[in-house]
Amino acid sequence: MKQDKIVVIDLGSTENAAIARFIRKHQVYSEVLPHDISPATLLDRENVKGIILNGGMNRLVDGANVTIVDELYNLNLPIIAIDYPESKAEVNYDEIPSDDILETFIFETCNADKDWNVDNFIAAEVKRIQDEVKDKKVLLALSGGVDSSVVAALLIKAIGKQLVCVHVNHGLMRKDESEGVIEVFSKDLGENLIYVDASERFLTKLENVADPEQKRKIIGNEFIEVFNEEARKLDGIDYLAQGTIYSDVIESGTKTSKGVKSHHNVGGLPEDLQFKLIEPMAQLFKDEVRECGLALGLPEDMVFRQPFPGPGLGVRTLGAITRDRLHAVREADAILREEFANAGLNKKVWQYFTVIPNFKSVGVKDGHRTFDYPIIIRAVNTVDAMTATIEPIDYEILNIIVNRILAEVEGVNRVLYDLSPKPIATIEWE
Ligand code: XMP
Repeated sequence: MKQDKIVVIDLGSTENAAIARFIRKHQVYSEVLPHDISPATLLDRENVKGIILNGGMNRLVDGANVTIVDELYNLNLPIIAIDYPESKAEVNYDEIPSDDILETFIFETCNADKDWNVDNFIAAEVKRIQDEVKDKKVLLALSGGVDSSVVAALLIKAIGKQLVCVHVNHGLMRKDESEGVIEVFSKDLGENLIYVDASERFLTKLENVADPEQKRKIIGNEFIEVFNEEARKLDGIDYLAQGTIYSDVIESGTKTSKGVKSHHNVGGLPEDLQFKLIEPMAQLFKDEVRECGLALGLPEDMVFRQPFPGPGLGVRTLGAITRDRLHAVREADAILREEFANAGLNKKVWQYFTVIPNFKSVGVKDGHRTFDYPIIIRAVNTVDAMTATIEPIDYEILNIIVNRILAEVEGVNRVLYDLSPKPIATIEWE
């Protein structure tokens, strides 16, 4: 399928992704490419209609300026440069130009067609996957998170039962979460959806481990272990699909910026499991992934699921995880989510959850002294999770939640609301 593209050349600016997003919002495909891309590689992309050279403050790698390959100027494509004083582009801007100027560049100077949308993306990606995979099988670790769920739905559309999904329940999922995954995908996948209840195994490994980093490490390693064991049992799998999305690609570092974090959805595959990787959504921003999920028929609560850390309730059960506290935090979380939904806050608040610390305090119930755990409520708003503010929840709603948790969750005698913004606090407690 023909698809016009405007490429943003990465010269170290932190605004590359924002410009690409702006262009895609105008229904023209845009991609950020490395500064040293060769003209041939660029033209391989087909239908490139224009180039934006985006310089900026960070246009340095190890103290040296980065520049583009001079031949890019000879491609006969419209080029604008932003904050890139050496540049030979016809038009240079000191800073990111106004929306109007960018729109004029996209549609008048480059004459790009508005043909980027989720339906076209799905159609093109389905065909690309079919052409690549042919009659081979693809394995996917399906966590139930937005990204892996949308990849699963896309692959089901493309190759149906050639997709094998493994869902590992590490025992640290939210209430009914694994059941939800099974419910959504078992209809299409049947026995190709492999459910592994590894709860006991994880909880045993985590016994008496109090250090947060150590807990994370154990959960991560054990997950890979379980997944590999399942993969070894399967025959004739050639591909491994991953729910990598564009922000993962960008955060893993480009040539001009050091990686914020290394990204491995399923890292650490041993030598004997040699899969070819497919990452169908590696070019999509999160909102596009969600749109894609809806277009593929996934339920709204799965598509708009709030972020949930890979180590799950393990980071919200502080100190060494015990089954009683894990149970309490899961039940309290379910109540919080139910009441947020009742009050319409689930659509308004970015992330909300409960935490259980590893200390007790005195309370009184039915005339008797209790010595039980507190539950902490966290409800934050943020754009990028780097900073966060607190949602001011109506006192009436808080009251309902507090009373329900105290009445329904065993082993809890206080409920606290954490009012600390990020920074100084983080979103999770760990
Ligand atoms: P903090 O606690 O650092 O969290 O303010 C920022 C955001 O990241 C989420 N988070 C994770 N997400 N895997 C994830 O995919 C993880 O291991 C993980 N740990 C924290 C956290 O929920 C918050 O939204």
